[in-house]
Amino acid sequence: MAVQTQSLQGISFQLTEEHLEVQKAAREFAQRELLPGVIERDDKQEFPYEQIKKMGELGFMGMMVSPEYNGGGMDTISYVLAMEEISKVDASASVCMSVNNSLVCWGLEKYGTEEQKQKYLKRLAKGEIIGAFCLSEPEAGSDATSQRTTAEDKGDYYLLNGVKNWITNGSTASVYLVMAQTHPEKGHKGINCLIVERGMEGFVVGKKEDKMGIRGSDTHSLMFTDVKVPKANRIGEDGFGFRFAMETLNGGRIGIAAQALGIASGAYELALKYSKERKAFGKFLCEHQAIQFKLAEMYAKIEAARLLTFKAAYLKDTNQDFALAAATAKLYASEIAQEVTSEAVQIHGGYGYVKEFHVERLMRDAKITQIYEGTSEVQKIVIARSILK
Ligand code: CAA
Repeated sequence: MAVQTQSLQGISFQLTEEHLEVQKAAREFAQRELLPGVIERDDKQEFPYEQIKKMGELGFMGMMVSPEYNGGGMDTISYVLAMEEISKVDASASVCMSVNNSLVCWGLEKYGTEEQKQKYLKRLAKGEIIGAFCLSEPEAGSDATSQRTTAEDKGDYYLLNGVKNWITNGSTASVYLVMAQTHPEKGHKGINCLIVERGMEGFVVGKKEDKMGIRGSDTHSLMFTDVKVPKANRIGEDGFGFRFAMETLNGGRIGIAAQALGIASGAYELALKYSKERKAFGKFLCEHQAIQFKLAEMYAKIEAARLLTFKAAYLKDTNQDFALAAATAKLYASEIAQEVTSEAVQIHGGYGYVKEFHVERLMRDAKITQIYEGTSEVQKIVIARSILK
């Protein structure tokens, strides 16, 4: 219990002027650039190339990276605020943003060599190029220690062989952080993370996934056959790859909590607005207590998810252990995103079930937040191990 109490010391929910500016910029960008065309992109499974390029120009692709490496030098709270606003409108764009910020840029800045930062991070943080994080495999999703992809040590390079699945930014990325097993006898302590460039011989982008939600995002399998990756492209010491992946995912889970929060609040705002416009049984929907109760519950859940997400971001920003808080925020925000988006559809009635009212898409998008960057069950493992320790 001491840990939980301690971690609340000094916590402040006062947003600064800078936070509010970031939030406003993200909100305006989402309304102006992402909203038009979001239904069509979802329908046609089209990646928002132009919009992601503009997000890079506005500094949304490397928000927390220090200015020295072309980043925005912002805190995690700013990142959460921006993720929420972008996700309210287009979760396909926000997952690209989330992976680039939390899984690729953060890990490279924290653990990359100076040469790796100069070569890759500077361009990733500016959004000139996009990154991907490659951990999942056909038979190693939640069970991430069971990596089958191998990185055989050949002296001054690694020989990479294997398949990765469900990789966000799979065909649009230029830089891939690939987890692979070098010393099987050491289990997860034998795993390395290698920086693989698009175009390296033997690296092929495989099939595009036809997904239920976040259909505008770019999800592919990747195949590596005898890819020669220079030793200089390994992140951290030999065998550091699994710890690197876990630490990076802790931060990633804050991003996905913020995404789930955004999807939920986007659906809630649409339902609230609709309830004030639509009449049934002689009065506006919002005048019916049945609808008021739904809206009140949706609001309370979103508020709770927001506080959990802010708490995790605050702990990260103040260099405290945030793994438990991140898993808790991600678990709760993704669960309530399912519930809130489903209620938003319900409030819309038949209109909620068709595409032009957006809430059916948000409901489909919400589901993935319970799956990627660790399923809800994985978050429960992380939480249980932490509280039982
Ligand atoms: N933070 C830091 N370290 C952690 C950790 C965490 N959250 N979770 C586990 N670890 C460490 C453990 O402390 C342990 O280290 P030591 O051996 O040094 O003590 C090591 O990792 C292995 O942990 P376990 O013994 O607990 O291993 P396990 O196999 O029983 O369970 C797991 C591990 C927590 C389930 C882990 O495999 C996991 O998180 N799986 C989910 C993977 C995941 O999130 N995949 C998402 C793919 S990326 C993605 O989705 C991106 C995208 O495209 C959007």
